[in-house]
Amino acid sequence: MKAPATRTTALLATFALLLTACSQANTGTEATNTGATTASTAIPIGIAFAQTSNVALLGQELVAGAKVAEKYFNDQGGINGTPVKLVFQDTGGEEAGTINAFQTLINNGKVVGIVGPTLSQQAFSADPIAERAKVPVIGASNTAKGIPQIGDYVARVSAPVSVVAPNSVKAALKLNPNIKKVAVFYAQNDAFNKSETEIFQQTVKDQGLELVTVQKFQTTDTDFQTQATNAINLKPDLVIISGLSADGGNLVRQLRELGYKGLIIGGNGLNTSNLLPVCKALCDGVLIAQAYSPEQPGEINNAFRTAYTNQYKKQPPQFSAQAFAAVQVYVDTLKTLDKKTDVSKMPLAQLRTELNKQLLTGKYQTPLGDISFTPEGEIVQQEFYVAQIKMDADGSNGKFTFLK
Ligand code: ALA
Repeated sequence: MKAPATRTTALLATFALLLTACSQANTGTEATNTGATTASTAIPIGIAFAQTSNVALLGQELVAGAKVAEKYFNDQGGINGTPVKLVFQDTGGEEAGTINAFQTLINNGKVVGIVGPTLSQQAFSADPIAERAKVPVIGASNTAKGIPQIGDYVARVSAPVSVVAPNSVKAALKLNPNIKKVAVFYAQNDAFNKSETEIFQQTVKDQGLELVTVQKFQTTDTDFQTQATNAINLKPDLVIISGLSADGGNLVRQLRELGYKGLIIGGNGLNTSNLLPVCKALCDGVLIAQAYSPEQPGEINNAFRTAYTNQYKKQPPQFSAQAFAAVQVYVDTLKTLDKKTDVSKMPLAQLRTELNKQLLTGKYQTPLGDISFTPEGEIVQQEFYVAQIKMDADGSNGKFTFLK
């Protein structure tokens, strides 16, 4: 099944292809490099995350996780002695920038595979570019329905909304069994948020709760007075938000300022401590489901948590752990391939294809626990959690505390 291509996406893709065609005409760069990497050269893996725009609130954490992985695996000897080199391209927050980043990594960076992009909204536009070039992509944060189905070269280590989101609703009911009325908010201009809200709304019904209203907004909005007032008038005892971090944080803040006292669930787009400076003390109590826990007992998580904590002086967040795991899937798979055939001597096009085929068959012990993939490229993961934000009274510091 292919993801539905919107007209905008098609236009953007065409525009990007034209741009690439122009730049190729100028530089003579071939879309598919057939040269082999030499023994002395590090193996390039592309990292396409948002390092600018509001989406960088999530992208930053992904970049951090990938960097920790690069150092960790190279310190361990890389690919049987050959290091890997991460090639970073900033996608920005939009689809066009993501398509350009993918093109650059594929054509100029000559990467063996790509980790990214940050948003599912970006993935639906850019992943087809990698699919056509036969370059593997591993999503580390894309959780919308339909990502692995974009193509044969697309997989993800970020468990989908269908698996993650219901956990937070169950946790809310455990904290407050008297919840009856639920108000749902979602950002209607974003593919992941549209997908996540469907799961939340279904879960509300499955749990026998009353969905009193569904309020829509845009990820670029900063004023939520109208939607928040509409919802509060219906006296919900649970609010569920599917948005990104800046908009989501502002919505949490405004709901509290307008007097809403009940529990709030934030979706995957709010799952970052970069939310905390937006809603400050009013972030307190927000529940967010997690596909990672810093307490995961595996050896590799110990190493990851120690490396991350030493560098960033706080516990690693989910997005960093997922980016680490995505890089690890490439590293482990390259090591496996290299034992059969020297990957540094393999023509790039062949290496990309072999890497893609092999990675789907592996089992990986990662900071997320033991993971593998379905033949379609969907992650198979066992362990999920729910965290609750605890803020200091003055709102300057806060953390995610994991519920039992
Ligand atoms: N999980 C969010 C997405 O898929 C970041 O867009």
